[in-house]
Amino acid sequence: MRRSFFSTLRVLQHDNPLGLPRSGTPPSFPRRRGLPEKRKIRDVNKVIAVSSAKGGVGKSTVAVNLALSLARRGIRTGILDTDIFGPSIPTLLNLSGEPRLDENNCLLPLTNYGLKSMSMGYLLPQAEATPDSFGNLPMDTTPISWRGLMVTKAMHQLLHSVSWGPLDVLVLDLPPGTGDVQLTINQEVVVDGAVIVTTPQDIALRDAVRGYGMFRKMDVPVLGMVRNMAYFACPNCGHETKIFSHNSSSSSSTHDENDWGVLAECRRHGIDFLGDIPLDARVCEDADRGMPTVVAEEGDDSSARRRAFLAIADKVAASVGLPVK
Ligand SMILES: Nc1ncnc2c1ncn2[C@@H]1O[C@H](COP(=O)(O)OP(=O)(O)O)[C@@H](O)[C@H]1O
Ligand SMILES: [Mg+2]
Repeated sequence: MRRSFFSTLRVLQHDNPLGLPRSGTPPSFPRRRGLPEKRKIRDVNKVIAVSSAKGGVGKSTVAVNLALSLARRGIRTGILDTDIFGPSIPTLLNLSGEPRLDENNCLLPLTNYGLKSMSMGYLLPQAEATPDSFGNLPMDTTPISWRGLMVTKAMHQLLHSVSWGPLDVLVLDLPPGTGDVQLTINQEVVVDGAVIVTTPQDIALRDAVRGYGMFRKMDVPVLGMVRNMAYFACPNCGHETKIFSHNSSSSSSTHDENDWGVLAECRRHGIDFLGDIPLDARVCEDADRGMPTVVAEEGDDSSARRRAFLAIADKVAASVGLPVK
């Protein structure tokens, strides 16, 4: 019989779901000499990290649409939400609930739209809540405040104790920054490639380039950069406006895309440019209702949004040698 994750950790409260002792001497970990050895995630052929050092640029949106695009190309795909403090995958895939454990005490992923997923969001007990008069549940106010050691332990469990079954590719949705989670992943598992998401603004691009530096330092191949929210396509007249770009159509612009911006940085560092995703209310709405663009507009070949995600996925698949059917 399959057991559930929480039944094995019944006594645990929301702030300590991983079972670290609440009192007494702090847990001790065996001292390792040098860096931990990198190993492959069990049953997973390729690992692709979706990253940006900045929050809110659309990493999770791109990661989930990328994973769903790969799944739609017949590639066995999973997505691991490594954003421990702000897990988005449960919302994006409209999934919740307690993962089951298999006979080896490994977590069984939750699946929607043909995509397997695991997230810290499934592992944190949900607070009791009553729906409002419209049937909406109030947002959870439970904070996740962990120190580095617990973050590392949680990451370790998510990386090594999930029973993915055979997967051609696992997409990692990384949290913002270049901190504990990124370091743990890069030290513990072989990452076959990183996709860096940025928006056109200077302030996001600077961090994206910093993220590129981190992957270079860790010998992770950077597959390329995605420019999210690249332009706004007016749903009424179809006119495209580069809201965030200095290289707007305005003649007073002092910047030229040849020497400033995402394309210029890609050229400067030898990074492949994977493509543009438009800034589009539908992308956000569909994400919020748990049916990302690639699924919401399945079969609509005229959708520029959907085509943009699929084209990026095809480039990523080709660059790591995934079997597109
Ligand atoms: N291309 C886009 N057009 C419109 N909204 C977008 C787009 N990309 C992302 N968003 C919205 O922006 C917000 C932040 O995106 P998210 O993927 O959560 O970013 P991150 O993971 O980098 O923090 C979400 O509400 C998402 O729906
Ligand atoms: Mg995110």
